[in-house]
Amino acid sequence: MKFYILAIVVVINITANAQMYVGSAYYPEQLSKERIDKDASLMQEAHLNMVRIGDFAWSALESEDGNFSFEWMDNAIHTLQKKGIQTLLCTPTAAIPKWMCDAHPDIMQVQVDGQRKAYGRRRHACYNNEAYCTYCVRIVRELAARYKETPAVIGFQIDNEMTTEDPYCYCENCRMRFVEWLQKKYKTIGKLNQSWGTTFWSETLNSFSQAWLPRRMDNPAIYLDYQRFFSDCTLDFYRMQRDEIKKIAPRMLCTTNVGGGGFVTTIDLYQLGKECDVLSIDNYPINCTVENLYGNNVGQPFEPSMVSFALQQIRGGRKENIWVTEEQVGRTALTQREIVPDGIVRLWTHQQLAYGCNMSVFFPFRAFESAHEHLMVGVVESDYVKRDKYQEIQQTAHEVRALYAKTGKLLPIARAAIIRDFDADWTFENGYTFCPDLKYLREVYAYYKALRSRSVMVDMVSPDADLSPYDCVIIPYLALVAPDFPEKIETKVKKGATVVMTCLTGVRNKEFHKFDGGVYQPLQRLAGIEIERQEALFGRKHNTLDYVDSTAICKYWFDKVKPVQATVLSRYNGAYFKDAPAITCNRVGDGKMYYVATVPEQKVIDQLMNVVISETSLKPIAHHASPLMEIAELQDMKGNSYLYLINFSGDLQQVVLNYPSNDVMTGEEWKAGIVSVNPMEYKVLRIKKQV
Ligand code: GAL
Repeated sequence: MKFYILAIVVVINITANAQMYVGSAYYPEQLSKERIDKDASLMQEAHLNMVRIGDFAWSALESEDGNFSFEWMDNAIHTLQKKGIQTLLCTPTAAIPKWMCDAHPDIMQVQVDGQRKAYGRRRHACYNNEAYCTYCVRIVRELAARYKETPAVIGFQIDNEMTTEDPYCYCENCRMRFVEWLQKKYKTIGKLNQSWGTTFWSETLNSFSQAWLPRRMDNPAIYLDYQRFFSDCTLDFYRMQRDEIKKIAPRMLCTTNVGGGGFVTTIDLYQLGKECDVLSIDNYPINCTVENLYGNNVGQPFEPSMVSFALQQIRGGRKENIWVTEEQVGRTALTQREIVPDGIVRLWTHQQLAYGCNMSVFFPFRAFESAHEHLMVGVVESDYVKRDKYQEIQQTAHEVRALYAKTGKLLPIARAAIIRDFDADWTFENGYTFCPDLKYLREVYAYYKALRSRSVMVDMVSPDADLSPYDCVIIPYLALVAPDFPEKIETKVKKGATVVMTCLTGVRNKEFHKFDGGVYQPLQRLAGIEIERQEALFGRKHNTLDYVDSTAICKYWFDKVKPVQATVLSRYNGAYFKDAPAITCNRVGDGKMYYVATVPEQKVIDQLMNVVISETSLKPIAHHASPLMEIAELQDMKGNSYLYLINFSGDLQQVVLNYPSNDVMTGEEWKAGIVSVNPMEYKVLRIKKQV
């Protein structure tokens, strides 16, 4: 009897906190009614409470121009709803029906070589094509009108991964939009010429209409503007659909899913975040790594900190939840880099919760029977057998919903921030970059990893972010800076913050022009240094430096620094700039400003972060030694502190906790000291002291 009362209480609690969504991507347009019926029961039994449907279903929704059929979708939504499963509806615009392409061949994007893309894949329609946009608006209106009163539909995912799969287009429509964008930005052609430096190589334009869409090896200032323009086009495409939905169905939450495991450089994610009710990420920890972004499909080993790096980027420092609209459950469609280990999907889902995600959507529920993604592993295969994947998902969904029912909304808290900038991405990726071997996000990650492997929580923020919550700010490779940036940093340091700034920060203004003296003078003054020369090394060449008690490798970029006020902490000792400072520190007001004049190997960054942590209030409330151990600090909405401990390793891990705590799920009490976490297990602790 007691057990039943408890069970009822738990169920009521879970329902009351329905904002923790755990579900799966589902493709009812490929399935019979009988299958959907049975799947709904399987999902319910697996504790799933939502599905994401409709992405890529355009031809099933509109088989011919204006010929709509929604009955199959109505049936799916209602069948699932009867089992307590809500729906996140996708607009189907990422894959166009063949009839549309046949009627309007110019819908297809044009590649950089001028060749129009052929039909047969997805994400290959041009955002600026009028016919495509008209069709998009019409289908979105139809969907919004049909489901605006359907309580089971919680919102819309707009399109699918708008930012991936070579989204650029070089058609004449895009060029005309670029011309308009430039006119709006520069007002006069003289200003544009001055900004782009067009007298160089005789590129002076007489009118805006002469502007062309640049390629990577064209003038870097034009390429930078093109990237900003393209990001704006993608945002406009999102806004166009969102505005239609909100006009018709204002209660619907609108999101869009960022692909590439969150590592994308084709859109300014800070801008996108502002436009979404919730921003979403597709989390593929095995397939989508930073190296993958740079085309090195090497199967980088799984690192929990790389996943949290991606999640924190999507959150962008906002005190908001984010959603995971796709989570890898096994082998994906195109590549088999690694076999997804048993039990790891469960831990990835916990990790998502630990970084403020209140939606987890396993991809896909049912393995596809044919076509492009026939190789993907699903929660279930083509039958109804509840095999190991299903059981893992069932356990996971039950755990995270029960946990959320106890804690309510949780958000990660950080007192350190890393500034990550999209202008920097675009600058480092143009054809005339400072050093082609220096991959921006890879090097930003080195600082993130150093702090996370010391259990320090880190927000990833824009250069425009409010820095007041942070005691420590890292500014890695922020190539382009706005005029007011140094003052913002100076104010921060004077008030007692520790700032670590690296080389290649402040080397150009926002128009991609040099500053007098190479690096923006106010930043040099703040660092207490004078930068006398800057050099790059490509390929396998490197330099070395002395730091703490060892020699380490440094690569790619080397500032020759003369200390003015700063103390020298490290010097080059190799073939280049021997004995010149490689790391310096300057006291400014109550704070400190470190300068790293090169790109050092990880151990140097680790050691520098040890120093930074020991001098600041960054000391974590718990720590551990294994890189496979995730420790995240969170807060609930009442300000209570929590620790999420997730052991991704096959060994028992011991975490040193600085405060007493109790286990949220079992109530078990822990004194300050050692807490053990079993292999491939997790714990959520409520910290007894406010921190
Ligand atoms: C995602 C995409 C899905 C599916 C999946 C396969 O990026 O959104 O539709 O293609 O990859 O790995």
